[in-house]
Amino acid sequence: MSQQRGRFITIEGTEGVGKTTNIEFIRQWIQARDIELVQTREPGGTPFAEDVRELLLAVRCEAVDETAELLLMFAARAQHLNKVIRPALDRGAWVLCDRFTDSTYAYQGGGRGIDSSKIAALESFVQGDLRPDMTLILDIDVVVGLERASKRAALDRFEIEKVGFFERVRAAYLARAKQSPDRYRVVDAGQSLLSVQGDIKQVLVQLYG
Ligand SMILES: Nc1ncnc2c1ncn2[C@@H]1O[C@H](COP(=O)(O)OP(=O)(O)O)[C@@H](O)[C@H]1O
Ligand SMILES: [Mg+2]
Repeated sequence: MSQQRGRFITIEGTEGVGKTTNIEFIRQWIQARDIELVQTREPGGTPFAEDVRELLLAVRCEAVDETAELLLMFAARAQHLNKVIRPALDRGAWVLCDRFTDSTYAYQGGGRGIDSSKIAALESFVQGDLRPDMTLILDIDVVVGLERASKRAALDRFEIEKVGFFERVRAAYLARAKQSPDRYRVVDAGQSLLSVQGDIKQVLVQLYG
């Protein structure tokens, strides 16, 4: 009997929205069901891809060309997908990923203004037809999110962008959710952590029992 493929769940949103905080809650919910779980993140998720992450996030004097940034995102993703995500899903594990290709549509597409058809072409090239089964978008007023993020650590090369950039990122996320309501669930992340987790739990129960 062939092993049933695992589920691929991604969590998305602008800076400080609570992705990393809430992924822990989701991990506990999945593991309580005795399911093998691979928890990971993008950019990164393998030693090589984490090196690419460092390249991408470091604040530097040289302006980074947006196409170079886009290609590095997908270079890291190819490594992550082929070495970690696909093998995990194939053996029946669930994969829970902090950011994935929706971040590329939102940041490099919405934020930087790269045409989404270019991103879609790379998505097909790198991923074939693999897409997340469910994407949770944590949505927040970008200024509130940036305030949360600013209390966390020194800002990275994306976090130093201006509010207008994050407004475009947020709008791109919401547009994607509206386009494919089956795959996306949007949660209001401006609530207390307890309320956010209550909403996330409802989504998980509704989708997976
Ligand atoms: N619902 C919430 N209300 C208040 N603070 C929160 C909430 N969710 C997360 N935080 C705090 O906001 C900061 C950013 O959260 P984090 O999970 O790192 O965001 P992200 O990974 O989306 O950038 C952290 O200090 C976290 O404790
Ligand atoms: Mg985070």
